[in-house]
Amino acid sequence: MSGVEQIVAVDLFCGVGGLTHGLAQAGVNVRLGVDLDPACRFPIEANNSTEFLAADVANLTPSDILSAFGDSKISLLAGCAPCQPFSSYSQSARRDGPHEDWELLSSFSNLVLAVRPTLVTMENVPPLRKQQIFKDFVAALQDAGYFVDFAVVDGRNIGLPQRRQRLVLVASSLGPITLPAADKSSVTVRDIIAGLPPISAGEKHSEDPLHASASLSKLNLKRIRHSKQGGTWRDWPKELVAACHTRKTGATFPSVYGRMAWDEAAPTMTTQCYGFGNGRFGHPEQDRAISLREASMLQSFPKDYAFTPKGAPINFRTLGRLIGNAVPVLLGEYIGETLVDHVKAFGDQHD
Ligand SMILES: C[S@@+](CC[C@H](N)C(=O)[O-])C[C@H]1O[C@@H](n2cnc3c(N)ncnc32)[C@H](O)[C@@H]1O
Repeated sequence: MSGVEQIVAVDLFCGVGGLTHGLAQAGVNVRLGVDLDPACRFPIEANNSTEFLAADVANLTPSDILSAFGDSKISLLAGCAPCQPFSSYSQSARRDGPHEDWELLSSFSNLVLAVRPTLVTMENVPPLRKQQIFKDFVAALQDAGYFVDFAVVDGRNIGLPQRRQRLVLVASSLGPITLPAADKSSVTVRDIIAGLPPISAGEKHSEDPLHASASLSKLNLKRIRHSKQGGTWRDWPKELVAACHTRKTGATFPSVYGRMAWDEAAPTMTTQCYGFGNGRFGHPEQDRAISLREASMLQSFPKDYAFTPKGAPINFRTLGRLIGNAVPVLLGEYIGETLVDHVKAFGDQHD
């Protein structure tokens, strides 16, 4: 075929499909998503033309991936291994010894070398780039003939309404590949969630069960009523301040129990982003934490992305984990566009 071949992808550690969905928006055909967590099947299959395989990536065989690629000419293996072992928070605890999750990057690397896809991408937390395991991964790709580029991408520069920095790697066997500078104008919390109907703490919206906010204790209701946009617990009357805040250790976490500011980016969405006490996750003006739908939209999922089957119970812990762990869809789109443009540039050489 002359012109550009469609990229066919397998997404390892696919989660609820942030990367899968973003790649698809950019024109990549993601045929298979693999994750250990069976709760990912519904969101992957309901929102994407992607089949889901519940499996441990460490036990995956090259033929599992090759059969999904079929006879496609341009294949992509994507793998966003869990990031907790590489975060700065967990590094100090684990600095002295390997953690089994770190091995997942090796499993991914082994699969790349066995399958030899045309393209590879990986996303993780920025501290990973200083780790030997990452340097080994890059060296293994280069030794196998891949051109590699990686960079830390700030979510605010790709149109994400969130202060989230991620390490992105792309590799290609077609030719030199570069992650383009991201320079989109900034998007605010207001731009994304101002249009959603108001709800109270503990309420679930009748038309969208994901637009549900966790209930608040009487004390926390009083606290949020005294919280200012972008402010801290220091704005509260003394009697509402918890003893742990006034201790030296608490003073270093001024944004817990904070409200987001309408006209700024949101903080990084975490697995606990539905809890008022877990960070600056208070709604800018309603007296509640953000809803799960708001969290997913701040992660750039479409407003109607389905995370659970109709009528299924809403479990904050499970859905918070799935949404907080997701790769923002816009980051997936940025990666997908980079790869599609690269294939366009080198497509002729592959015909
Ligand atoms: C950072 S999240 C991935 C987010 C996802 N790529 C996205 O685009 O939204 C990491 C995922 O790895 C999965 N996981 C952890 N260990 C795994 C393993 N051994 N095999 C397969 N999946 C695993 C977790 O269930 C989790 O969904």
